[in-house]
Amino acid sequence: MSDARSAPAPTGVVAALGALRDGDRARAAAVLAAGDAGDLAAALARHLGRASADAVYDDGTAFAAFIGNGTNPELYRRTIAALSAVHARRPPRTVLDIGCGDGRVTAAVVGGAVTDVDLVDPSADLLARAGAALAGRPTRVAAHRTDVARFLAGLPPGAGWDLAQSTFALHTLPPAHRADVLRGLAGRARTVAIAEFDVPALDGDAWTAHLAERYARGVDEYRDHPEVVDGFLMPVLVGQVEPGRARHTFEQPAAAWEDDLRTAGFTAVTTVPLHAYWWAPAVLITAEAAAGRGA
Ligand SMILES: C[S@@+](CC[C@H](N)C(=O)[O-])C[C@H]1O[C@@H](n2cnc3c(N)ncnc32)[C@H](O)[C@@H]1O
Repeated sequence: MSDARSAPAPTGVVAALGALRDGDRARAAAVLAAGDAGDLAAALARHLGRASADAVYDDGTAFAAFIGNGTNPELYRRTIAALSAVHARRPPRTVLDIGCGDGRVTAAVVGGAVTDVDLVDPSADLLARAGAALAGRPTRVAAHRTDVARFLAGLPPGAGWDLAQSTFALHTLPPAHRADVLRGLAGRARTVAIAEFDVPALDGDAWTAHLAERYARGVDEYRDHPEVVDGFLMPVLVGQVEPGRARHTFEQPAAAWEDDLRTAGFTAVTTVPLHAYWWAPAVLITAEAAAGRGA
């Protein structure tokens, strides 16, 4: 999958990200102070100058503003439509939502046939918002404030779901945990549906140039929302390059997610495009448990 739009990466930001990658904050700040003006350079300089907090989901306010603005409403509209189609094709009675966030996708796709929903998210704030989004329905909703690897590891034998869904959340898993989590799901979910970004496998200078080019677009989308730029985009960006910072995303190409699902034991792996999003093309990947496995 490719995204046709492209623009040159802001050179000062590329150099600053390179300095951050080397663990040299002072050099990054100096490069930004001396370099081209631009919204991304200004936001990054502000972030570095403030010793800002790394967390982006503990308090869900900036994240909620992020997904409520820019092109995210369109991304979410398409995600909800595609995931609703998965529900309609083979209506699940039991659903696991991994990294449910504020539950806006969960609440939009869970229909009347669903009897049980399990929500998993380590953020107490977002989990509470998700619970509220599903309140007042006859569906049993259980909220689990934990990380998905720990949640799956602690399940009793026989626990499982008709559908395990996760929208833009499995990329929070460090690669070392990914295989175990997908294998755990393969034993417990009849179907999985995963919305993710199709991010190219780049490293070194190609990666920092790519980040700078894409985040310039992202910052541009949130000109009227500095709380999103400062409270979400900058910590997510810096976490991807600077050693010792909390890292919120470990992304990979859609083809690698497909391979990981097959390796975990899933079959019928299918990917559909969702949106040519500023960061990367968004896709929905579905897969079925091999016969005799899953819920
Ligand atoms: C980008 S948000 C997506 C939220 C929601 N699914 C949506 O589509 O809006 C990522 C979510 O994953 C959660 N998360 C982070 N690490 C996680 C983990 N180890 N296990 C489960 N969820 C996690 C975050 O708290 C956050 O709610």
